[in-house]
Amino acid sequence: MKHIEVNIKHALGNIGREQIEALLPEVADGLSKLHNGTGLGNDYIGWLDLPSRIDSGLLADLKSSAETLRANCDTVVAIGIGGSYLGAKAVIEALNNSFDAYISSSEAPKVLFAGQNIGEDYLYELQQYLADKRFGIIVISKSGTTTEPAIAFRLLKEQLERQMGKAEASKRIVAITDAKRGALRQLATEEGYKTFVIEDSVGGRFSVLTPVGLLPIAVAGYDIEALVNGAREMQKATLEPNLENPSALYAATRNALYRAGKKTEILVNYNPKLHFFGEWWKQLYGESEGKDHKGIFPAAVDNSTDLHSMGQWIQDGERTIFETVISVDSTRHSVIIPADDDNLDGLNYIAGKHVDQVNKMAELGTRIAHVDGGVPNMRITIPALEERYLGQLIYFFEKACGISGYLLGVNPFNQPGVEDYKRNMFALLEKPGYEQDTEAIKARI
Ligand code: PA5
Repeated sequence: MKHIEVNIKHALGNIGREQIEALLPEVADGLSKLHNGTGLGNDYIGWLDLPSRIDSGLLADLKSSAETLRANCDTVVAIGIGGSYLGAKAVIEALNNSFDAYISSSEAPKVLFAGQNIGEDYLYELQQYLADKRFGIIVISKSGTTTEPAIAFRLLKEQLERQMGKAEASKRIVAITDAKRGALRQLATEEGYKTFVIEDSVGGRFSVLTPVGLLPIAVAGYDIEALVNGAREMQKATLEPNLENPSALYAATRNALYRAGKKTEILVNYNPKLHFFGEWWKQLYGESEGKDHKGIFPAAVDNSTDLHSMGQWIQDGERTIFETVISVDSTRHSVIIPADDDNLDGLNYIAGKHVDQVNKMAELGTRIAHVDGGVPNMRITIPALEERYLGQLIYFFEKACGISGYLLGVNPFNQPGVEDYKRNMFALLEKPGYEQDTEAIKARI
């Protein structure tokens, strides 16, 4: 079976293999808590067997809704934030043509995103762009009450109804939310929108393989069945409490590095299409691990671009970091560097080589330099940027995240810390029900 591989050879140095092996009993305990539902946050482990549970009926329903949107819309705006945004964005960016936004003849509708910020100019410019478009909306919010997507949806719903009429607009809006609770569920029922459910037991950052991620990905024209099949392969490959289990190996290695003082993990890619995969990964690990004043800080860089900005710090700054590189074996296309008679740029020594051969040497040269500079380096190799391998990678990281949280001794499935800013924001905006908080916060400013 062709699948992703984890190589920890160059992560050793600060720690030895024996320190990783010593964590095996804790890894086994973490896996058993996940598999038996006996660990902290066990109400939120529905993602664990999700790939094998997704039935063909749901996949068919998702494909048919995607086809309806594709047939009727030239642009579909996916509205959501955090876990209701990053998974779809990561997969679509990894699979899309890098210049998709500028290719007007592309068959699939453009999938744009909103509700992931509170940018007034962003929303103004989006509304201007949509003014002459046949657009549709996928509104995604598990709670149905998150401020950012609620503002974007209020604006775009009003615009769509103005442009299309209320009845036609209702056919172009799909809501993905809780089965029963929340304002979005109520609105969807009242307006007769097509809906999909986010299960109670799947938290936002683990929801990419639910309709939250799958519908926008299908609308963009990608094979969600292959994505789920890849995840199913990884579900099977990550069951055993040993270091042949790639998620266990990754979780144990990063935890051993953390215990040895490496407090920041940098996820590195050498393919610009993976930028948003890094963003998805940061949310997954940041929200899962960063609590009780513990947790590896998840950072990400895009190389070789960032070798010209962050490269100095990584090579030479404080030695509290380690790197995890996602290395993609093969490219989709072939570009050969041409020879040049004048050779003024001195590049003839690489004439005839594929661009990716140069990229791979940048990756190898950087790894050797960083390891020499005291930065442990793990490598996760995937055969290609295809749906199947992205599905494997997603599940691999999710499973490793669950194990990592238990190795750290935290509940990996809650996010109590994100409520604090919301309470302050609501108090400052004088939201009804926050009167006392408003008074208290105003006294502090
Ligand atoms: O991982 C999480 O649970 C969060 O990041 C949520 O996904 C994010 O806050 C969006 O929440 P909701 O889908 O309820 O609007």
